[in-house]
Amino acid sequence: MQAVLLLSVTVSGIVGTMCGCVSSMPALMEFYNATNGLTWAQSNGWGSADCNVSWFGVTCTLNEFDGSSRITEVNLTSNNLGGSLTESLVNLTRLQSLLLGSNHISGTLPAKWRMFDFLYQLDVSSNNLYGSIPSNWASVELSLVDFSRNSFNGSLAESFSNNILSIDFSDNQITGSLPTSWASFADICYLSVRRNNLEGTLPESWKTMGTNGSGLVLILSYNHIGGSLPGNWSQLTMIKELRLDHNNLHGPLPESWSTMESHVFFSLVLDSNPIRTTLPSSWKPSPAGGTLTIFDFVAVLSLANCSLYGTLPVSWTFPSIDV
Ligand SMILES: *[C@@H]1O[C@H](CO)[C@@H](O)[C@H](O)[C@H]1NC(C)=O
Ligand SMILES: *[C@@H]1O[C@H](CO)[C@@H](O)[C@H](O)[C@H]1NC(C)=O
Ligand SMILES: *[C@@H]1O[C@H](CO)[C@@H](O)[C@H](O)[C@H]1NC(C)=O
Ligand SMILES: *[C@@H]1O[C@H](CO)[C@@H](O)[C@H](O)[C@H]1NC(C)=O
Ligand SMILES: *[C@@H]1O[C@H](CO)[C@@H](O)[C@H](O)[C@H]1NC(C)=O
Ligand SMILES: *[C@@H]1O[C@H](CO)[C@@H](O)[C@H](O)[C@H]1NC(C)=O
Ligand SMILES: *[C@@H]1O[C@H](CO)[C@@H](O)[C@H](O)[C@H]1NC(C)=O
Ligand SMILES: *[C@@H]1O[C@H](CO)[C@@H](O)[C@H](O)[C@H]1NC(C)=O
Repeated sequence: MQAVLLLSVTVSGIVGTMCGCVSSMPALMEFYNATNGLTWAQSNGWGSADCNVSWFGVTCTLNEFDGSSRITEVNLTSNNLGGSLTESLVNLTRLQSLLLGSNHISGTLPAKWRMFDFLYQLDVSSNNLYGSIPSNWASVELSLVDFSRNSFNGSLAESFSNNILSIDFSDNQITGSLPTSWASFADICYLSVRRNNLEGTLPESWKTMGTNGSGLVLILSYNHIGGSLPGNWSQLTMIKELRLDHNNLHGPLPESWSTMESHVFFSLVLDSNPIRTTLPSSWKPSPAGGTLTIFDFVAVLSLANCSLYGTLPVSWTFPSIDV
């Protein structure tokens, strides 16, 4: 994930002790019990009856407009959590950031977690979670989700949050196909479903993905996606990096992609697909002073193991080419 995505959540007020957040303690303690709190690496303050003692990883924030205090962040990253997740954590209704990555939590993600109204960032990466990733998240703020390196095994949800900026579902066992509806992710800048069991084809509709973002990294590598390369993806104007390697994609390489005008660095990786085709004649740099074409932007083009035949046009002078 990129540093630019980690811009902080807007919270008002100051970070205080647990005193304004006493009503959230039962839900936190239920979570503590269910995830083997006694064996956490750090649990300073947890369960303390004195609300002036802060709890490790928990942020209780005072809202200066209405004087109320709410838990806004729980960060227990890499803290030796085990057991399973608790449904009642949704009782922390103002939670914006829930970071539980790099632990040993198993079981499923509680379907009720869709009901978090203000969730902005959810990280459960590197655990032992399985089952489906819930769809229809209530929070319109949900922007950064990391479910990578688990054993999630359902299919990808048609409907997610349309304000999404970054999705990492890589290294799971997700099946089914890429949802055409994800074309509506206008602001997205990072989407990875690398190393899953996805099949089906590349949705033409995705040509609008990321149009309002700051540059899109799309990683679909190591799945079983078939079909052809959609000519319409030449309209993916914000594409920065496109990785389609290790799939079942067939040619041809679309002539139209030569007009793919990216404002940003562009890298195209197509290794290890059964593409057997010639390189389109349009895929070559234009003469100096001419109109810019795709390859004025491409810094890396990798087509290794793609059964290309024919010869490269002599005019090809990429910084890096791997065929
Ligand atoms: C969570 O909220 C529900 C509904 O308000 C309530 O019934 C339940 O007791 C709460 N659980 C905890 C652990 O706070
Ligand atoms: C946590 O576990 C302890 C010991 O088993 C039990 O006494 C306590 O009621 C539990 N608390 C919650 C909130 O589940
Ligand atoms: C918390 O600290 C404040 C200010 O020091 C004090 O007035 C209050 O009594 C303390 N609360 C508890 C439960 O100890
Ligand atoms: C969460 O906690 C981890 C480990 O304590 C820390 O490295 C990381 O910076 C924290 N993240 C945030 C967003 O506070
Ligand atoms: C997902 O994995 C769980 C646990 O291994 C299993 O019970 C369930 O049937 C699997 N679901 C699918 C759709 O494969
Ligand atoms: C992109 O941004 C423009 C201007 O802010 C807006 O009118 C348009 O609806 C946005 N497109 C999408 C798909 O959200
Ligand atoms: C490309 O997109 C247009 C407009 O959405 C559509 O009419 C057309 O069928 C699509 N496919 C191709 C191959 O042009
Ligand atoms: C080359 O691609 C084929 C599929 O087209 C794949 O089966 C094979 O494993 C790939 N070879 C390497 C070295 O990646």
